[in-house]
Amino acid sequence: MTLRTATAGDLTAIMDLERTSFPTDAWSEPMMQSELASPHGRYLVDVEAGRVIGYGGVRAVQGSADADIQTIALAEAARGRGRGRTLLRALLEVARERGAREMFLEVRADNPVATALYASEGFVEIGRRPRYYQPDDVDAVIMTLDLVAWAAHRAADGTALDAGACS
Ligand SMILES: CC(C)(COP(=O)(O)OP(=O)(O)OC[C@H]1O[C@@H](n2cnc3c(N)ncnc32)[C@H](O)[C@@H]1OP(=O)(O)O)[C@@H](O)C(=O)NCCC(=O)NCCS
Repeated sequence: MTLRTATAGDLTAIMDLERTSFPTDAWSEPMMQSELASPHGRYLVDVEAGRVIGYGGVRAVQGSADADIQTIALAEAARGRGRGRTLLRALLEVARERGAREMFLEVRADNPVATALYASEGFVEIGRRPRYYQPDDVDAVIMTLDLVAWAAHRAADGTALDAGACS
């Protein structure tokens, strides 16, 4: 498994994964393009045998205490083997390096796999946005994580990842 910072050249591969992972509410290509180019965020790709098989992004404005997990997805064949957790942890490390102290994310209420991943990493539900995801009419679950406590726990475990290794 190789994680590296996504570039504009990864846009097509990321959009293929985006459309298959989120068939009813995929982001548009221009939106993803601007996400990849934003100085206020960072996207990582998971590469296997030269192919992009996963991606995830964080919005973390330098100096801001709050940051957001924007998205995370793996090719169907690559799921369930720990890669999602590794990618999520790398994104959290990026946010921490940028000075964030608290992470936020929104997840569909009908996505138990992603919710379990986030909860097992320490995210807790703080609210819901009813019928947020359209056209499916599904609630958004808003979750937050104390990033300082998370990083301290990881450091104590000796498992902290140097986010610089992903660039
Ligand atoms: C959500 C996603 C990124 C998780 O990545 P993954 O590589 O499949 O997950 P991992 O193998 O790292 O597993 C991490 C945790 O997720 C949960 N999980 C993974 N597969 C699961 C399954 N089939 N059923 C229930 N929980 C599951 C478990 O809590 C697991 O921890 P554990 O292995 O200690 O039990 C991936 O499944 C995916 O791309 N899904 C489609 C896109 C998506 O829903 N993205 C999230 C948008 S908010």
